[in-house]
Amino acid sequence: MKRIIAVIRDEMFDNVKTALLKSGCEGMNVSTVKGRGHQMGIKESYRGSRFCVDLIPKTRIELIVKEEDLDNIINVIIESARTGEVGDGKIFVSDVEEVIRIRTGEKGPDAV
Ligand SMILES: Nc1ncnc2c1ncn2[C@@H]1O[C@H](COP(=O)(O)OP(=O)(O)OP(=O)(O)O)[C@@H](O)[C@H]1O
Ligand SMILES: [Mg+2]
Repeated sequence: MKRIIAVIRDEMFDNVKTALLKSGCEGMNVSTVKGRGHQMGIKESYRGSRFCVDLIPKTRIELIVKEEDLDNIINVIIESARTGEVGDGKIFVSDVEEVIRIRTGEKGPDAV
């Protein structure tokens, strides 16, 4: 199992969420973060305005997925989150040791 953390533009979240649901991806954690990438201090667009600030609000999506679904879900996120402008975001992938569904006690990929 893998953890995908995608940090994307706030305004692309609805698009990404719809695309993820269409690909059968249901469970997710979503939060708002402030971050920066390579263009520290360089102007970036946010909700139609140009900002020149250190940290820019972004949406952070965390998904735990089965290994076999990883590549597809990454592609879905890239295609639905991309504008082609700087600040489109990043995807981080890491291993997940165990998942347990509390209600049933199922473990591993079945619990995802
Ligand atoms: N190395 C990193 N570690 C953790 N979070 C990061 C990292 N790089 C980017 N982020 C997060 O992702 C957000 C979007 O990053 P961003 O898309 O600007 O990356 P970038 O490397 O500058 O790429 P681009 O040149 O396309 O803008 C940042 O605001 C920050 O929240
Ligand atoms: Mg950037």
